Amino acid sequence: MSHFLCPACKNTLSENEHTYVCKNGHTYDKAKSGYVNLLLNPLKNSNSPGDNKLMVNARRDFLDKGYYSKLADAVSEIVCKYADSSLPILDVGCGEGYYTEKVYSYALSKSTEYDIVGIDISKFAVEKASKRCKAAKFAVASIFHMPFADSFCGTIINIFAPYHKEEFIRTLKKDGIFIMVIPGEEHLWELKKALYDTPYKNEVKDYEIADFELLDVQKVDYKINVDNNADLQNLFKMTPYCYKSPVNATERLLSLDSLEIQLDFRILVYRKK
Ligand SMILES: C[S@@+](CC[C@H](N)C(=O)[O-])C[C@H]1O[C@@H](n2cnc3c(N)ncnc32)[C@H](O)[C@@H]1O
Ligand SMILES: [Zn+2]
Repeated sequence: MSHFLCPACKNTLSENEHTYVCKNGHTYDKAKSGYVNLLLNPLKNSNSPGDNKLMVNARRDFLDKGYYSKLADAVSEIVCKYADSSLPILDVGCGEGYYTEKVYSYALSKSTEYDIVGIDISKFAVEKASKRCKAAKFAVASIFHMPFADSFCGTIINIFAPYHKEEFIRTLKKDGIFIMVIPGEEHLWELKKALYDTPYKNEVKDYEIADFELLDVQKVDYKINVDNNADLQNLFKMTPYCYKSPVNATERLLSLDSLEIQLDFRILVYRKK
C-alpha cells in the first residue's frame, strides 16, 4: 500500500512497478522518474496549474547555486529536531524538491531515515523533484484536496507554498508538527529597492494560528552577493514580483551585473492541538 489515496474514490492506492491502482481498478501511470499525477480532470487540463516551466527552471538554477543553503540547513536541523521518524513527512508545494532532498540527506547523515512524500500542483516541478530525491515519493496534487488519509503523517513542511489549514489539520496526526517557512520583513530588500521607485517591506503577520500551538520561531537572515545578471534574473523569476512588476522594473533588472541582497526568513514550528 502507498500513502496516496485514489482521487476518484478515496481508497488507498497500491504501488506497482509502473502504476498506482485502487481496489476499484482506477489506475494512474507512474512517470519514468517515478512520480504519479493524481490531479483529476478538469484541473489537470487547466493549462498546467502551478509554477510553469520557466519558473521551475529559474528556481532550480538559482537554488542549485547554493544561495539559500543556509535556509536549507536550518530547515533540515529543525525537521530533525521535531519530526517523528516513525511517521511520514509531507512536503506540501515541494517545488522541484530542493528542500525535500536536503532534509532527507541531512537526516540520513545523522542516521535517521525519513519516509518523505512531496506534492506540488506543477507537473514540471514534481518531475524535477522525483529525479532529485529518489528516496521520496512524489505526486502532482493540490494542497487544497490532498490525496491522503486523515492523520496519515507526523510532520508537514510548507516552504513558501500556499496555506490550507483544514487540509493540514486533517492529514496531520494529533500532536503532529507543522513547519512553515515565510519571508521576513527585510527579505530581498535590495532587489526591491533596485526595481521599484517606492519599495515596500514585507508585512509579517501574527504567527499564532488557531488549532496549532506555536513551539518555535527561528529567524534565518544573511546577505548574499549575487554576482551575475543570470542569477539575478532567476531570483526575480522565483518571486511574485516578476509577474506584478511594471515593464521598467524588468528593464532595470537587465542593467544590473551584481547585487548584495538581504535574505530574511522565518521558520515557524507548530504542534497540532
Ligand atoms: C514559491 S514555490 C516553493 C517551492 C518549494 N517549496 C521551494 O521553496 O523551493 C511554491 C510552489 O507551490 C506550488 N503550488 C501552487 N499552488 C499549489 C497548490 N494549490 N497545490 C500544490 N502546490 C501548489 C507551485 O507550483 C510551486 O512549486
Ligand atoms: Zn479509485
